[in-house]
Amino acid sequence: MRVSTLVELQEYLGRLARPLGFVPTMGALHKGHRSLMQWAKVHNQSVVVSIFVNPLQFSPTEDLNRYPRTLEEDLLVCEEESVDLVFTPTPEILYPQDQDPTLVVPPVYLTDKLCGKSRPGHFTGVATVITKLLHLVQPDRAYFGQKDAQQLAVVQHLVKDLNIPVEIFPCPLVREQDGLALSSRNQYLSAQERATALIIPQTLAWAKRQQQSGVMDAQKLSEHAAITLSKESGIALEYCALVDPYRLEPVPPSSQTPSLLMVAAKVGTTRLIDNVTLDPRPPVIALDGPAGVGKSTLAKLLAQKLGFLYIDTGAMYRAVTWAVLQQGLQPAIEAKDKTIIDPFVKSLDLHLEPGTDPAYPTRVWLNGSEITQNIRTQPVTDFVSQVSAVGAVREALVTQQRKLAEGGGMVMDGRDIGTEVFPQAPVKIYLTASVEARALRRQQDLQEKKLPIPDLEILKKDISERDYKDSTRQQSPLRKAPDALEVCTDGCTIEETLGRLLAIYEARIMHL
Ligand code: PAJ
Repeated sequence: MRVSTLVELQEYLGRLARPLGFVPTMGALHKGHRSLMQWAKVHNQSVVVSIFVNPLQFSPTEDLNRYPRTLEEDLLVCEEESVDLVFTPTPEILYPQDQDPTLVVPPVYLTDKLCGKSRPGHFTGVATVITKLLHLVQPDRAYFGQKDAQQLAVVQHLVKDLNIPVEIFPCPLVREQDGLALSSRNQYLSAQERATALIIPQTLAWAKRQQQSGVMDAQKLSEHAAITLSKESGIALEYCALVDPYRLEPVPPSSQTPSLLMVAAKVGTTRLIDNVTLDPRPPVIALDGPAGVGKSTLAKLLAQKLGFLYIDTGAMYRAVTWAVLQQGLQPAIEAKDKTIIDPFVKSLDLHLEPGTDPAYPTRVWLNGSEITQNIRTQPVTDFVSQVSAVGAVREALVTQQRKLAEGGGMVMDGRDIGTEVFPQAPVKIYLTASVEARALRRQQDLQEKKLPIPDLEILKKDISERDYKDSTRQQSPLRKAPDALEVCTDGCTIEETLGRLLAIYEARIMHL
């Protein structure tokens, strides 16, 4: 559905199911915009996209009139991405002509540098239109690309400083096959210019590789990248800077947190921007997929191979369940009583370590006492799914999981690790297998354990039902992150799949 007036917008917004995700764009939609819509779809019940070439963010010398306008194609893209509502106002609707609009001016320290230097007033134009759009659409979450890293930082500050009740979700940068960052402005480039422009992603990829190999510190890499780009003929480098992603301030030498290497350059008359995150910590690997694909086995093996920590989230939920049973809190869990559950979960001090006994792959301590064996008992098994369905339990455990991952170097498996728990994980893998293959594997498992083997058809039906439940459940449903790589394990041994996962890991950390 497409609407252009404010009255229509309000009318249709009222019909949309919540939570609502919002993707503001200027149209000429490409795969980068599509990925934002896909992220919004993953997290929300409904998605609204706006298409508006905002005159306020263009200076008189910029390309406002030349900016590509492809509304028909854009509407098709929105339809293909199952967007619920597309808002396409005209400038007169958002800025009635008889008005000199109130402007939203971001803090100077965010705008007197990088793109702000050559585009005075640009971020005021962006902040103003985003404030208006957020007020009009009132989304629960809004999606912005990390491609425009300075814009993202401006918007993050904007909603915080003006107390706008929306979550800003940063989406990973999407590139063409050859590495060029997707941009509506790429269509201005001639074939020759486009080829020349590739030096930008190539230089950023070089910096990332060097950093991963620990050859040079990020500051030195940034200086080398600047020299490479400024020497390149056909490119006029505007800046190449290493900054922290939130305040965009220079990063102190040997910083242990992620920094952004940001570039702006003109190729011919076209201004291009690009960036890469340089993170000194080893990465987090998110492994998602349906039940029975061998996720946890693979996650453990992958962690072992890489010397990373494997976080057994199942063991965490079991530990909480054990504590619930110990303290007789089943009624509070059944009633989902936040006033009891919240403080209870927060009071639990969980500690996990890899174990050497295959029967107990993860050793678990709760408030100082080891409960590795207690959490594998039948009463825990019987009650754990009820406990994990409680929002407050999940929130508290996700906070702990993020804390455990602060130092990086971790593999975690689940249903929504790449979409909800670690959406910024640089390596995301989505494992799949046909229902048939999973049923056969289950039969094999049972045979090895000398347990009764149900009929294949019954197992297939069970697995299909479980898939449906997992992907439609309210709490942490099974979802593939838009930037996850899908790996089908049908016909592969564990070793073969592990080999594929290791290859994906290498490729992801070494390339952009
Ligand atoms: P536009 O350039 O159309 O971009 C809309 C959104 O798509 C922005 O959040 C941008 O960062 C994101 N995006 C663009 N290219 C991307 C890529 N290659 N990978 C990932 N995300 C990408 O940015 C604007 O419009 C405007 O300034 C706007 C925010 C709509 C305000 O007018």
